[in-house]
Amino acid sequence: MSEGSFAPEALEDLVVAKQPEINEVQSSREYAPTQSIARLLALPLEQRKVVDKPITAATKVCLIGDGQGADTKLFSSVVRPENITSVNYDLREVTAANERFEREGSAVRMKQADITNADSLRNAGLAEGSQDLVVAAHVLEVPIFNTQIGDEVARQKAAQNEKSFADNIANVLKPNGEALIFSYPQRLTQKEATRLGVEKVTPDAAKFYDIEWRQDLTYAELSAIRSQDELTKLFGDKFTVIIDNTADGYAVRLKNSPL
Ligand SMILES: C[S@@+](CC[C@H](N)C(=O)[O-])C[C@H]1O[C@@H](n2cnc3c(N)ncnc32)[C@H](O)[C@@H]1O
Repeated sequence: MSEGSFAPEALEDLVVAKQPEINEVQSSREYAPTQSIARLLALPLEQRKVVDKPITAATKVCLIGDGQGADTKLFSSVVRPENITSVNYDLREVTAANERFEREGSAVRMKQADITNADSLRNAGLAEGSQDLVVAAHVLEVPIFNTQIGDEVARQKAAQNEKSFADNIANVLKPNGEALIFSYPQRLTQKEATRLGVEKVTPDAAKFYDIEWRQDLTYAELSAIRSQDELTKLFGDKFTVIIDNTADGYAVRLKNSPL
């Protein structure tokens, strides 16, 4: 692949209009690369598959919610930069990712978009039926997808967000496209949250989620955790679903047509 020639546009031109309806209160920390993705991409071509399409330099891949771009960087060691679309809601992370890509001479850029909003995905260049592969590691856990917190309105909104997540992934994929979703099987302990540097919830954010605030409350406690059955139910309408238990939690492998 060719690296070293990055697009000259100003970083701010790459950021699509911010979607106001999603709240800003999300966990933000420095995210490490996903080890399962690193291992997958290191495999020889014939084994380098999520379901049955080998990942090559020509694979159109979209990363959703990739923090500061660690997994996007992993993909850029295999996939040509023009075939990588990386979108994330958090503007601070988008800026950090792009500063890093620029510093490292990578042509890849992250754009701001919201996986629950089809228009924002289109604005970020994700046309319907355009992608071979979508990857989202630990995005479904963020509180906006938690149907167990807040009042009835908040719970319904979370259920709608969760559905939009699955629908929008199906929409941007080609007919035989595949997706790889990582989801934690259980909540982080307070100790793990502290070690990882998961952000504390502010009193305002707790109010937003309609939960009682305390000093040591972290976003880890608000994260949406799903069983294998719940994950199968969420994606089963649109995809063939395969779930593996990995060191990165459940690896949910999806194909948007029957195997
Ligand atoms: C828990 S972090 C996981 C980061 C990284 N993928 C990893 O596995 O370490 C959740 C990520 O999802 C992003 N995110 C949250 N809501 C989103 C949304 N509606 N659309 C796109 N990305 C979102 C956050 O900005 C953050 O980067």
